[in-house]
Amino acid sequence: MDTYQVQRDNLVRSPKRWLVTGVAGFIGSNLLETLLNLGQHVVGLDNFATGHRRNLEEVRISVSPECWSRFHFIEGDIRDLETCRHAIQAGSAKGAQDDPHAQDDPHAQDDPHSAIDYVLHQAAIGSVPRSIEDPLFTNANNIDGFLNMLVAARDAKVRRFVYAASSSTYGDHPGLPKVEDVIGKPLSPYAITKYVNELYADVFVRTYGMSCTGLRYFNVFGKRQDPEGAYAAVIPKWIAAMISGADVFINGDGSTSRDFCYVENAVQANILAATTESENAANQVYNVAVGDKTTLNELYELIRELLEIRQVTVKQKTPFYRDFRRGDVLHSQADISKARQLLGYAPEFNVRQGLDAALEWYVTFARQQYPGK
Ligand SMILES: NC(=O)c1ccc[n+]([C@@H]2O[C@H](COP(=O)([O-])OP(=O)(O)OC[C@H]3O[C@@H](n4cnc5c(N)ncnc54)[C@H](O)[C@@H]3O)[C@@H](O)[C@H]2O)c1
Repeated sequence: MDTYQVQRDNLVRSPKRWLVTGVAGFIGSNLLETLLNLGQHVVGLDNFATGHRRNLEEVRISVSPECWSRFHFIEGDIRDLETCRHAIQAGSAKGAQDDPHAQDDPHAQDDPHSAIDYVLHQAAIGSVPRSIEDPLFTNANNIDGFLNMLVAARDAKVRRFVYAASSSTYGDHPGLPKVEDVIGKPLSPYAITKYVNELYADVFVRTYGMSCTGLRYFNVFGKRQDPEGAYAAVIPKWIAAMISGADVFINGDGSTSRDFCYVENAVQANILAATTESENAANQVYNVAVGDKTTLNELYELIRELLEIRQVTVKQKTPFYRDFRRGDVLHSQADISKARQLLGYAPEFNVRQGLDAALEWYVTFARQQYPGK
């Protein structure tokens, strides 16, 4: 049996308490759904800066009422240390009793567990262009907020703090595929914040004996990734445009390549990173991707083909090309052998399989937004 299956079976047998920050976001809400389906107790924290209530509502509808009763949501901001402490305390039976929202979660008060076991820290402002436009805002959320969460987790003595790092940390280093210990200079304020996260986590491991693991996500995609707004990621943005008949723009000549990673692979990496009992595997930073390379031109064709297989009419058959975007790296492809070897990570979806799995959601969402298309 593969490691992921073994760890999931262990969790079902012996449920744990998790804090997922950024739980109303794309990756956070996917983590929530999987954890609840595995019988886990989850506290979620989010201030809806970029996340949505509709994501939580979708999870509620997709899981059973019994699963949902094991979720406790706190609306709050990681830039406030007390909020971070409160979120961790809400994982304990006492914290739940003290919490004014505890009536949302009637089972929390009866729960025998006393504290959060694992933090999956996803909350951040995740856009490169947004960080270029407003570096102070990105810094406050991604560095101050991160440090608050780290301090709260340290003081509560959680078992492990797993956090969302980023492939942007490879910066201007031209080497491919990307190997964890060879990085270049950051190309954006966002990339700086994600690298600073790694540095802080490492210092907290050395100084306070915490257990921290960073996951450098490479272009994650899947259901509930926001297709809207100026900072939407490429896959949901293109699919929404293709369905609504809007123009699709490719920044550059389309040869830019990425290691697109379906969200279920990222969920797997989080669960493995949190639960591994191997000392060698803890306190590391890992690439989380598939290990493949897809150019933007190839991606466009793939999405078009998969939409047409579903008989979704794509009005605009060719994309428009425009300038490269500041802060973007040209090529990105991960070496995932470290995660394979140390965590037993084995991505279950390549880009085509991931798109195939996610497309239904994207099409349904777009049809709700653009009725009649
Ligand atoms: N999606 C990717 O391809 C990708 C790649 C690399 C790294 N990451 C990182 O993964 C994490 C999750 O990204 P995502 O794609 O799900 O983005 P997302 O924007 O959908 O989710 C982030 C969530 O964090 C919340 N949040 C932001 N600031 C907060 C604050 N101050 N207090 C409380 N909540 C706050 C947002 O409201 C949102 O729900 C982020 O840390 C991001 O930097 C994502």
